[in-house]
Amino acid sequence: MNHRKFKCITMAKSKELSFQYKEFDRVDDLPPELRDLANKAKKALTTSYSPYSEFAVGAAVLLDNNEIVLGSNQENGAYPSGLCAERVALFYAGSQFPGVAVKAMAVAASFKGTPIIEPVSPCGACRQVMIETQNLGGRPYTIVMVGERKVIVLEDAKFLLPFAFSSVKEATK
Ligand code: THU
Repeated sequence: MNHRKFKCITMAKSKELSFQYKEFDRVDDLPPELRDLANKAKKALTTSYSPYSEFAVGAAVLLDNNEIVLGSNQENGAYPSGLCAERVALFYAGSQFPGVAVKAMAVAASFKGTPIIEPVSPCGACRQVMIETQNLGGRPYTIVMVGERKVIVLEDAKFLLPFAFSSVKEATK
């Protein structure tokens, strides 16, 4: 097996992706609307059903109609049948308020009842769903990833998943 890198320097255009995000020391430092949303994500932890991982995740979604939808991870003895907090919240929002765009989303987590120190970061499948939700809404939305000693704020779901899959409909328009 040859492990040399392929030489495509002559034909290729070099591209770069970068993005900016904000980092806060704590939830209390966030602007009021996002602070409220982050605290609601923490509140949603109480409804997590996670007896297998003991990792509770809470999500709060702020919609354009100013409704706030909460979700938490729901596990199952047949492990893959469970669902992450982010998708519970986004799918619930989509089913209760179809066609209403998302303004912002916050995610928080705890392990064995203790809030996690580093910001919780959505899994790949949730990122894919977050991006499609954003595409449906037609404009970027804010994402708040909550940790006890660090809170990250992104202004576009696309930052979470470069080269995200787009459906044929999306990709051919
Ligand atoms: N989990 C979420 O709810 N969101 C994520 O983005 C990653 C993981 C859940 C799934 C499972 O119930 C538990 O956390 C441990 O992986």
